[in-house]
This record gives sequence, C-alpha cells and structure tokens, in this order.
Amino acid sequence: MDTAAPQKSTYLARIETLLYAPDIDRKLSEPGFRDLPAEISELTRRAFEEESAADQQHVHEVLYAINVASLALPWECDAVWPNHPLIAGIRRTIESAWERSERVRHERVLQSAPPAAKFEQWITEHIRDHRSNVSHPLFRFLKEEATLDQLRLFFFQETPFDIFHADLITMMMPGIYGVVKQEMAHNFWDEMGGGRAEAMHRTIRIDTARSLGLDTEAHVREIHRFCCEELALANMYFDTIANRGKLLQGIGAMLATETMVPGRINHQIAGFRRNGLDDGQIYYLTLHAEVDIEHGRGWMRNVVLPVLGQHPAALREVLLGVERRLHCAGAVCDRMLRFLPAAAPAQARALAGVS
Ligand SMILES: [Fe+2]
Ligand SMILES: [Fe+2]
Repeated sequence: MDTAAPQKSTYLARIETLLYAPDIDRKLSEPGFRDLPAEISELTRRAFEEESAADQQHVHEVLYAINVASLALPWECDAVWPNHPLIAGIRRTIESAWERSERVRHERVLQSAPPAAKFEQWITEHIRDHRSNVSHPLFRFLKEEATLDQLRLFFFQETPFDIFHADLITMMMPGIYGVVKQEMAHNFWDEMGGGRAEAMHRTIRIDTARSLGLDTEAHVREIHRFCCEELALANMYFDTIANRGKLLQGIGAMLATETMVPGRINHQIAGFRRNGLDDGQIYYLTLHAEVDIEHGRGWMRNVVLPVLGQHPAALREVLLGVERRLHCAGAVCDRMLRFLPAAAPAQARALAGVS
C-alpha cells in the first residue's frame, strides 16, 4: 500500500464472493473460481518463499477475509462459509507456509531460550528491549510530530486486531480451567466493561473511531485499505488461537501484547493531546494505558507461569508466539514510520475514511 487509494485485488474479491455465496459449490464450478485454490497456492509460495511484498499483501487480505467471515453473523448475511473444505484448505495453505517461514526466522531466539525457572525475568526484559516497543522512532513521531490526520490514520490502521481482541480471548477459553481460566475470565470481563454494554472495549473503540470521524466498517467491507503488516498482526492471532494445536503460541503472543501496550499508547495519547483533542475523544487509548499494566502482570503470573510450571517443554512454543507478535509489531512500526509522514492530509483522510 502506498499513499494512493488501494484497489481491491481479484483474489480478495473472489474469496469474499465465495465466503458469502448463497451456493458456494455452484460458484466454485464457475470459471474464475475453479482455479482459485491453485492460484492462491502459487501466491502463497511467492509471498513466503520469495518474500514478495505485493503478494504478502494479497495473501493477508485473503486470510483476514476468511477470519472476518469466521465471526460473521448468519442473520446479517445470506450465507457464510468459513468452514467449507475448500476455504479451510486455502486457510491451511497460507497459515502453514507462513508458520514454516516464521519458525526459520525465529530459530536463533528459540535456541537461546532460558530454562522455565528463569523465563519470567528473561522474557520481560526481552519484550521491553524489543525494537518494536516504545523506543521505536514511530512513537516519538506520533508524540511529537504527527498531524491529527496522521494520528487518525494510525488509529484506523490498528483496527484489524483491536476490533477482535475480546473475541480472541474468548476463543482461547474453552477447555482451560483453574487459575489460567480465572485470569482469562478476568481479562475478558474487563474487555466486557464489567458487564456493561456501553463500556465494552470494542464499543469504546468504535465510539473513539467515530469521534475521530473514521470509517468503522472498513475491516469488514474494505480490507484492502489496511496495510499488510496490520492484517498480518491480526491474522497471526487468529492463526495461533483458532488453530487449537498452536494455542501455546497464542498465549505467548498475548503476553507480548499485554506487556508492551501501555508505553506505546502513552505516546499516541500525547500526540492527540498536542493536536488539541481531549481525553474523552480518545477514551479507548486512555483506558488501555491503565488496564493493560494489570493485564500484562496477570497474564504472566496466572497464565504463562502456571502452564510452564506444569509443562516446561511448552516454553519453546510460548516463546515462538512472543516472537511472532514482536516481529509483526516491529513490521507495523517500520511500515507506519514510512507511510504516515508521507501521507498528505487529503490522502490520510481518504485512506482512513474520515467523514
Ligand atoms: Fe481492551
Ligand atoms: Fe488488555
């Protein structure tokens, strides 16, 4: 994605057609759809073996469309097919190739993992010192230089994962019991605004997006407006949580998110305040500057450490999840630091759907 308005690719258009087709099997017999799985296999190969940026954008759009459909409501669309064997096959093709490349990418860190008894201190420092944390120059830019349009565009781009955060916590919980469940339920209850619909974090995020004048439906209808790195971050969570066999990675990824979010958010808040917004207009951000400090500590003590205490061999998969999350976040920071300063006001507003 550059600063020109991106177009919907033929891959995304066709996968969306299939996902919501009244009769998917008939649709699949039509020219243009019959060869889609083979086309996406080749696209996936180019994306992850040749590291082609354009193909990675297409692949992550397709995968995110499938993830969005997995949470679609049957009373809001005529049909929805996220679990059709062909769709499941496409998802598996993409996720498997991606995970293979991620295991290679992070092998050196995985080799250097400490024993479980030393994990807490080691991983806390590792996350704190990672280049995607608050020391990344993106956050100084947001705090000190970004215009209101650029800050809005960043908030908009963060939608694909943020909007499903609570759903992803929910998807982790079945089959888990005891203190681990208790912590997840506590985290989930905060996401649920303590049981008040208007205080649910997703609702507050949408309210904040509206107060910033942003398009709040783009993550469903206009997936191609999000950059590859933000889609990858969201897809990484769906991959490691919806696929039960990767749940340890999902637990590690959530540890990284809850541990690093507060410092980064404070810089965004400072940027919005510098541009004259009051805290009520950015309540989603000010709220998370506080609750996530507790969430990070709780996730470590009540989720990660109890799991590792019982199953020390799980450490490698948890660490892979942390690494995947940190890498995705680092890629987002790099992309946004190239992308936001180059976005002229009219372009920034158009890309974020500012009304
Ligand atoms: Fe939240
Ligand atoms: Fe949180």
